[in-house]
Amino acid sequence: MRHIMVLNAKGGCGKSTIATNLASYYATQDKRVALADYDPQRSSLDWLARRPADRAPIEGVEAYKHGLRGVPRNSEVVIIDAPARVHGPELTEMVRHSETIIVPVLPSTIDISAAAKFLEDLADVGRVERREVRIAVVGNRVRENTLIAGELDEYLDSLKTPYLTKLREAQNYIRAYTRGLGIFELPEYLAWPDWEQWEPLIEWLGSRRSRPVAA
Ligand SMILES: Nc1ncnc2c1ncn2[C@@H]1O[C@H](COP(=O)(O)OP(=O)(O)O)[C@@H](O)[C@H]1O
Ligand SMILES: [Mg+2]
Repeated sequence: MRHIMVLNAKGGCGKSTIATNLASYYATQDKRVALADYDPQRSSLDWLARRPADRAPIEGVEAYKHGLRGVPRNSEVVIIDAPARVHGPELTEMVRHSETIIVPVLPSTIDISAAAKFLEDLADVGRVERREVRIAVVGNRVRENTLIAGELDEYLDSLKTPYLTKLREAQNYIRAYTRGLGIFELPEYLAWPDWEQWEPLIEWLGSRRSRPVAA
């Protein structure tokens, strides 16, 4: 069973957006997908409740209540949406649930500083130090040709952690969320620029690079 967690202590950086889109992507690839929401705000589960019955099914898991106990045994991919403000022992505990972690970062000075601090904390977690978990960063809500987008690029490039892609700020994400869909389920003429931006992330997740040797 493959686990992919979207994690960042900062709120509003796109954890739930990326988690729901990943769940929809793997569901459209005919994988048996569970979407585990550790955030009592339930953004991922609310999205799932909006999902039309004729779309590829996804199993919702109230992880904020019962952890991953509700994940069906035959799941192939478990997407884990983490809450904000996870620090210290709670962070160590959260990291235990996944062998792959994606950290979204917004182009804003506050978010870049917060990400720098968060990635340092994450690097100190035993499982990360022992390379039992693989981490990558993605830029999110990026508006090209802005000064701050350039700063985000420079910062993410400077990290040892792989910097996979940047996702643009787009109404498609809002539209898709409202309808319980992912951008992969929107029409091509609308969503192709987003599909292209997701490609490196999907490719990394499909490769050995996103998995620890033992997993
Ligand atoms: N790439 C994007 N383009 C446009 N809006 C986005 C994008 N990513 C996230 N959002 C919006 O930003 C807000 C915060 O995103 P969310 O996924 O809820 O973050 P988190 O789960 O980290 O708190 C939401 O309103 C969401 O619709
Ligand atoms: Mg969220």
